[in-house]
Amino acid sequence: MRFNIAIDGPSAAGKSTIADLLAEKLGYNHLDTGAMYRAVAYKAIKQNIPFDEEDKIVEMIDNMDLEMMADGRVILDKEDISDSIRTDEISMGASNVSKLKGCRTALVAMQQRICKDGGYILDGRDIGTVVLKDAPVKIYMVASPEARAQRRMLQNQEKGLEADYETILEDIKKRDYQDMHREISPLTKAEDAVEIDTSDMTIDEVVERVLEIIAEKTGA
Ligand code: DC
Repeated sequence: MRFNIAIDGPSAAGKSTIADLLAEKLGYNHLDTGAMYRAVAYKAIKQNIPFDEEDKIVEMIDNMDLEMMADGRVILDKEDISDSIRTDEISMGASNVSKLKGCRTALVAMQQRICKDGGYILDGRDIGTVVLKDAPVKIYMVASPEARAQRRMLQNQEKGLEADYETILEDIKKRDYQDMHREISPLTKAEDAVEIDTSDMTIDEVVERVLEIIAEKTGA
């Protein structure tokens, strides 16, 4: 039987990279739930809806056509927004709309629908605590803000994006605070999640560690 795997943790802890590699190894699908909050922020900006206008944001979500493709692309109202949602503005916007109860309720329902038959790795902030409360494998991935800023800086340099270390570090700390202190579903480790501190680990080491945890928890 194919089960679901939950990966949570703060921004830039390596969740998405690890989820992609695991999905490939296991023949599972990866659902990047952060990208869904990013899509909401993207559309809100496009439609000039302030991030705190909950009713309007929820109405907008009800009318949006969001396709999370198996290859990781994000298609919003038939437009490929995969790259456009990776800016600093959208990162902060996603963190802002993710505070809204109505936004969370709608996106959590979508996520649960997508992975209802198993075979999914979901990464986000509330997967182990809310979306997949019964997942047999829950990982809580952390790394120091400095290690995360360093990684994000290198990624940004590769992509030709803004790459000032201090700015990135500040942004990471601000988003951590906001994601951990919001009222609804704040980022927190599920009681039955296994924590991995990736600060001094290579990507391969993290993948190996997660595969060990999967074997321990499921015998797979
Ligand atoms: O994973 P990410 O950096 O792409 O997520 C962007 C923002 O979306 C993050 O700052 C908080 C929010 N988010 C959330 O509240 N719940 C999730 N499951 C995923 C993301």
